[in-house]
Amino acid sequence: MFLFKKKSKPVEKRICDERLSHIAFIMDGNGRWAKRRGLPREYGHKKGAEVLRKIARYCGDINIKVVTVYAFSTENWKRPKHEVDAIMELLDEYLDFLFTTMEKDDVQVHFIGDNSPLTDALKEKIAKVESDSAHYHRILNVALNYGGRDELVHAFNSLASEGKKDITEEDVAQRLYTAHCGDPDLIVRTAGEQRLSNFLLWQAAYSEFYFTDTLWPDFSPEDVDRAVDEFYSRTRRYGGIK
Ligand code: FPP
Repeated sequence: MFLFKKKSKPVEKRICDERLSHIAFIMDGNGRWAKRRGLPREYGHKKGAEVLRKIARYCGDINIKVVTVYAFSTENWKRPKHEVDAIMELLDEYLDFLFTTMEKDDVQVHFIGDNSPLTDALKEKIAKVESDSAHYHRILNVALNYGGRDELVHAFNSLASEGKKDITEEDVAQRLYTAHCGDPDLIVRTAGEQRLSNFLLWQAAYSEFYFTDTLWPDFSPEDVDRAVDEFYSRTRRYGGIK
């Protein structure tokens, strides 16, 4: 019997085109990941923050221009103080990481949401990372104290205070926190739930959705590939007929 060593097939690297320029992630499942290991929920967030670093970079590698991540919602303040504090600390560390990597990754950082309840130190750091990265080309949006309804109310109040009449969709879009980028082509939610949870309500009008049972701390570049493949297998009609 002859055994032929199988030639390993070259792995095809996915390079996304203009049909998929913006992916948004609802990074769910950190708590369950920790619980299954008998660890405090904070460990799940810590692992989740590591995975975020890896996934954001991988998206750049496959030519995704804009990545948006849901880090903390307007409702997440309801969690125990120690958990909120842990997420804010991870965020602070993530900002330090962004300062050291934004040039190499060519990434412009935007925090989207209402940052008024944040500490002054965090607000200053966010303002600095945003201004220092403003000339880079890819975009990373970190949704922090973000709520889709809150964002819309904020936009409508801006329009009202400008005394704007005959308001168009474009007028609203220009007053959203995402005015600097297009709508997400694909929204990925991990950990099995199939809902938007107040994320990008306006912007998701024609987004494709991809749900996976994988918990965010287990989410890998191969999972991104699966979501991307699924996206390319779909036909987007925007209400029309193909
Ligand atoms: C949802 O999982 C996750 C969050 C509410 C926070 C997301 C935070 C991170 C990924 C890490 C920190 C963020 C940054 C920007 C460094 P869950 O806690 O609701 O999980 P569960 O549904 O299993 O309880």
